[in-house]
Amino acid sequence: MNISIIGTGYVGLVTGACFAESGNNVVCMDIDKEKINKLKKGIIPIYEPGLDEIVRKNLNTGRLKFTTDLEYAVRNSEIIFLCLPTPPGKDGDADLGILFSVVKNIAKILRGLAKDEKKQLKKLIVSKSTVPVGTADKIKEMLNKELGKYSDKIDLYVASNPEFLKEGNAVQDFMFPDRVVIGVNDGEAEKILRELYEPFVRTGAPILVMDTRSAEMVKYTANAFLAMRISFMNEMANLCEKLGADVEKVRIAIGYDNRIGPRFLFPGVGWGGSCFPKDIKALMKMGEKNGVELKIVKSVYEVNERQKKLIVEKIKKHFGRELKNKKIAIWGLSFKPKTDDMREAPSNVIINELLKLGAKISAFDPVAVPNAKKIFGDKVKFAKNQYEALKNADALVLITEWQEFREPDFNYIKTLMRTPVVFDGRNIYNPEKLKKLGFTYYGIGKG
Ligand code: UDX
Repeated sequence: MNISIIGTGYVGLVTGACFAESGNNVVCMDIDKEKINKLKKGIIPIYEPGLDEIVRKNLNTGRLKFTTDLEYAVRNSEIIFLCLPTPPGKDGDADLGILFSVVKNIAKILRGLAKDEKKQLKKLIVSKSTVPVGTADKIKEMLNKELGKYSDKIDLYVASNPEFLKEGNAVQDFMFPDRVVIGVNDGEAEKILRELYEPFVRTGAPILVMDTRSAEMVKYTANAFLAMRISFMNEMANLCEKLGADVEKVRIAIGYDNRIGPRFLFPGVGWGGSCFPKDIKALMKMGEKNGVELKIVKSVYEVNERQKKLIVEKIKKHFGRELKNKKIAIWGLSFKPKTDDMREAPSNVIINELLKLGAKISAFDPVAVPNAKKIFGDKVKFAKNQYEALKNADALVLITEWQEFREPDFNYIKTLMRTPVVFDGRNIYNPEKLKKLGFTYYGIGKG
């Protein structure tokens, strides 16, 4: 099939590369010339395991192309995927400005094509961006309005196809999805999308077909539910701490209940990233606008805001109120391992709070340092490796559980630090072992 991807950000690039990998001809479009020029040479703008390999392979075979020309992309494709950003607006609502302006431009291009072309055209426009419920209907309305009398010359379909990609595992998630959700309001769009996704569901994953509004709602519900599990466990962790219980034991035990399951129950320094915070804000707004008070969703958000600061409270309590002349080593800056993404990363809040208290920060992350430098500039000292960050440090704060931080040489660490204190923000270390080695250990929810 001939596919175009409008918006070659994180979701667009993964989607385009994976569709090319499954044998389609894909044109990825973006207005960012520098990004497109780099991609044409096989240089990937983000860190995502496995992505560079399939981009380069499909560039070489010619199945994957990059362009800044929207008209070229729209003209040469039967399926047009919208993978555009929908950032939170001033009031938390998803800002659809970019999406709608692109839809308008696409409509103008389609109008031009319909005018010149003798034969009947067929185009399927698929929204992959996370958008408020009802957006697919609005897109269809806008397109028809703009096409006017030419709408009869195009068989035009609009579908919603939310993505469930996890950063750091996106290629794998796309290639082997748990399920594919397709929102359509007609049989033809369903037929095309079923055929397109067939190679990805050979493992037996279902393709779930529903109306566009339900499909749009699936994405918000899934993300809010996952965030709820984490916020809930963070709340339980805080109580465990006061009551002398160990949240890790509680987590494992409840995870064996088939109705609960073991995943997304890990307490920590709070959730972040490009999806959860933005989607939860947008969901709250949707509730507000429609007169439905989403009490749980609101609490999920508030608990998380508080959680990001709790580790700072522990540090403050350990050292007394002031942190002047204290050197704090930070391990891990990205919002989770295997990504360089700093968006809404708990490290932003934690580091800023520590700086406010007068601490000196020395940080290390395996890949996120260039992005972190853009945020902190020279307010933070960035170390060349994880051990260098610890030289003369008064405490180590583990924020992101990268694999390379899991089994460090604690005997060596003790020789590097001024005082051997560990704040383990992800419960990855064994408290007993550390205490035996002479460390003071603080975890999350370990009473
Ligand atoms: C999420 C969804 O999982 C994905 O389906 C959607 O498409 C986009 O949003 P992502 O933001 O890449 O993906 O990260 P995810 O792995 O879901 O983690 C989100 C946050 O929750 C991270 O900050 C992570 O550290 C935190 N987390 C996750 C926990 O604190 N505890 C857990 O048990 C799991």
